[in-house]
Amino acid sequence: MQGWLRTVRRSKGVTFLALNDGSCLDSLQIVVAEDSPAFADTDTLGTGSCIGVRGMVEPSPGGGQTWEVQAAEIIVYGTTDESFPMQKKRHGFDFLRSIAHLRPRTNAFNAVFRVRSRISHAVHTFFQERGFLYVHTPIITANDCEGAGEMFRVTTLDPENPPRVDGRVAWHEDFFGSKAGLTVSGQLQGELFATAFTDIYTFGPTFRAENSNTSRHASEFWMIEPEIAFADLSVDCLLAEDFFRYLVEYALENCQEDLEFFNQFIDKSLLEKLEQVVKTPFLSMTYTDAIDHLQKSGQSFEFPVEWGCDLQSEHERYLTEKVVGGPLFVTDYPAGIKAFYMRRNDDGKTVAAMDLLVPKVGEIIGGSQREERFDVLEHNMKEFDIQPDSLDWYLDTRRWGSCPHAGFGLGFERFLMYVTGMENVRDVIPFPRTPGNARF
Ligand code: 4AD
Ligand code: MG
Repeated sequence: MQGWLRTVRRSKGVTFLALNDGSCLDSLQIVVAEDSPAFADTDTLGTGSCIGVRGMVEPSPGGGQTWEVQAAEIIVYGTTDESFPMQKKRHGFDFLRSIAHLRPRTNAFNAVFRVRSRISHAVHTFFQERGFLYVHTPIITANDCEGAGEMFRVTTLDPENPPRVDGRVAWHEDFFGSKAGLTVSGQLQGELFATAFTDIYTFGPTFRAENSNTSRHASEFWMIEPEIAFADLSVDCLLAEDFFRYLVEYALENCQEDLEFFNQFIDKSLLEKLEQVVKTPFLSMTYTDAIDHLQKSGQSFEFPVEWGCDLQSEHERYLTEKVVGGPLFVTDYPAGIKAFYMRRNDDGKTVAAMDLLVPKVGEIIGGSQREERFDVLEHNMKEFDIQPDSLDWYLDTRRWGSCPHAGFGLGFERFLMYVTGMENVRDVIPFPRTPGNARF
């Protein structure tokens, strides 16, 4: 066996080592008796040391484990000393974030990243079993899909001395011949593939230069974006619900030991919540009804509520935690607070959009039916101050062989927060990028 020591316990005539190689939560108990040739080697060992062990696996007489290893030989790969920052006691997540290069060696982060890996697999299984095509949309792009102006710039121009024409930066001289940045969403390219392959999905990194320092926003996060042709908003919601429930069920079946750990140490109601969510159909209400609920709530919110305002996380939490007590689709938002590509409803004021909100985390999925009518789309772009020729390739899908279609984006880290109970997005991604922080 090879791995890292969680603890070293010395008692009279015997040393107990808890060895962990990341494959599961439980460590393996290594017993090194005084008369074993390996005993002398245990002198140098402490929490965090890396060793190999040869010995016999035997039924364990002690409580807490079924098996243990009676060590005959120990190979010391790497020792630690008292300056090793992760000693036996439990450390706060804030502190562990400051040593993100070492935190994978703790039980909590071991569990988080095992769940992350398994749920990634489940994402692919869900879509592949349903005949969806996996498409790798570009990471570098010239278009700001969400139109929120939150793109990181990608450039090879010298920031101290860029080429200029008439005093303005000559972006056409930049590497890609125009301003380029890191993608905020693969959706627009996903739509191009959905109008050829019918059902597609993306699963990749997404970047947003949004200066919001919250526990739910990262500057680099992973998003899953399915796009389905011949579908309207109700079909989109059904897919989102099926997908969400599939991932939760998958976690309950395949990450049992880790979820029990989270249930014990992070959120005592976690398992009950997850078991409930796989059994209960999700509720849905329009944005207009949601505003009505909020206005009649008698609560004083920090952000006042009126028709046309964006829902803030305090509003989302009230709706999911107090009104419905579970996941909630909010649909048909005012056109003005959503993106240009969403399909305009017949009332002229709202769009066929949906957000899936969940308790604690808030918005976990954002999606919509897309505007497939050329004239309406072109008109909406102008309303949003987007030059139609800057997205001529996107408009071409509406010009030739257009079809009704819809899709959504699930924030992978937000889902992991939901399924583990971890409260900070920084603690479910290996090396978080947030304003002021790109170390490691
Ligand atoms: O609601 P958003 O901005 O929707 C889109 O990007 C669409 N293009 C998706 C689509 O229809 N294909 O983002 C989708 C989800 C959010 O609901 C949230 O879960 C997550 O992505 N998300 C973030 N997660 C972590 N950090 C951030 N800064 C996030 N911004 C969005
Ligand atoms: Mg959104």
